[in-house]
Amino acid sequence: MYSKETTCVYNQQQHQGVNTPIFTSTANRYIGFDEILYPRNFNTENQKAIVDKLCRLEHGEAGLIFSSGTAAIATVLFSFLKAGDHVLFSQEIYGGTVKLIEEEFPKYNIAFDFVSSADMGNMESLVRENTRVVYTETPSNPLISVVDLEAVAAVAKKHNLLTVVDSTFATPINQNPILLGIDIVVHSGTKYLGGHHDLCFGAVITSQRLKDVIYQSALNFGGSLNGLDCYLIERSLKTLALRVEKQNASAMKIATALQENPQISTVYYPGLQQHPNHVVAARQMTGGFGGMLSFELKDVAKTGAFLGRLQLIIPALSLGGVDTTICQPSKSSHANLPEEERLALGIRDSLLRLSVGIEDVADLLRDIENAMKH
Ligand SMILES: Cc1ncc(COP(=O)(O)O)c(C=O)c1O
Repeated sequence: MYSKETTCVYNQQQHQGVNTPIFTSTANRYIGFDEILYPRNFNTENQKAIVDKLCRLEHGEAGLIFSSGTAAIATVLFSFLKAGDHVLFSQEIYGGTVKLIEEEFPKYNIAFDFVSSADMGNMESLVRENTRVVYTETPSNPLISVVDLEAVAAVAKKHNLLTVVDSTFATPINQNPILLGIDIVVHSGTKYLGGHHDLCFGAVITSQRLKDVIYQSALNFGGSLNGLDCYLIERSLKTLALRVEKQNASAMKIATALQENPQISTVYYPGLQQHPNHVVAARQMTGGFGGMLSFELKDVAKTGAFLGRLQLIIPALSLGGVDTTICQPSKSSHANLPEEERLALGIRDSLLRLSVGIEDVADLLRDIENAMKH
């Protein structure tokens, strides 16, 4: 077993070259072969090379990669659920996942409840006789809350529930939910795993037994990934540990500096002692606290001007890339939520979410300070 840094780089299954050749063929010989190669069968060499690496990074036995994080999440959920079932979701999850649940589940008569991230460890009172799955995301979007995964896994095991964790914000470098007792890990690879804002994919890592179940539905839903994108992912994964370690360190420096800034009222970063979930984060995020942080300007009227004056940091959606990006969740990821609901979640107009990249942290801090000064 190699360290994470080495695992990111080293391809276990080599094809003479250091990198996996790109297999683009959708028509493959079948006479004399046990397995029929086909991209939608999730069995091409390029797909397998990535899954192998992600399994080693996440300590899982098996996995699948998909054409988006959403395809991965939807396939996992619909692999295990049927009409009459019930699911517990933590409230602070990606807006697109909420949309998937609220728009699709009623069509299939699948019931659900949302629980605040802080209460996920105490969700036992909400478990029903027909509850099948507990789904959470940690750290969460956009308030970077941290869910106690060991507590969730303990309750789930007691009631024989399947646990799914979206670990996109953490990456396998910082957190390994399977080691904390979670059954299935999902990633929007579009973020840190890809890491350059230029490709879209999703990943599922789990046990061989659960993967076999997911695989049967995955074949029917068809959300597989092509060889060319696989090649880019293989390339991106080589620098995952390097990138994330740098992003962890820079985010910590920026969060600490922003805390001292008189124009900022609150900083949300689990690495800060003041963060309400710092103790849990320190226990379960063994690699670092991640590259995502949020903060609120004291004067909400200045938010637009601040964003407009940034020179280096790019106001943009998505996250997890080498370029530092910033967004205002109330006007982007959570714009479709009714105002009352949004405010109840703590997402005010003054909230800004920063995805820290790999630039020089002094340049990033100067950009923030300059944009605030004017
Ligand atoms: C935490 C999280 N999970 C899932 C998704 C969905 O991933 P994709 O956009 O790759 O479908 C996103 C996208 O922003 C996300 O941030």
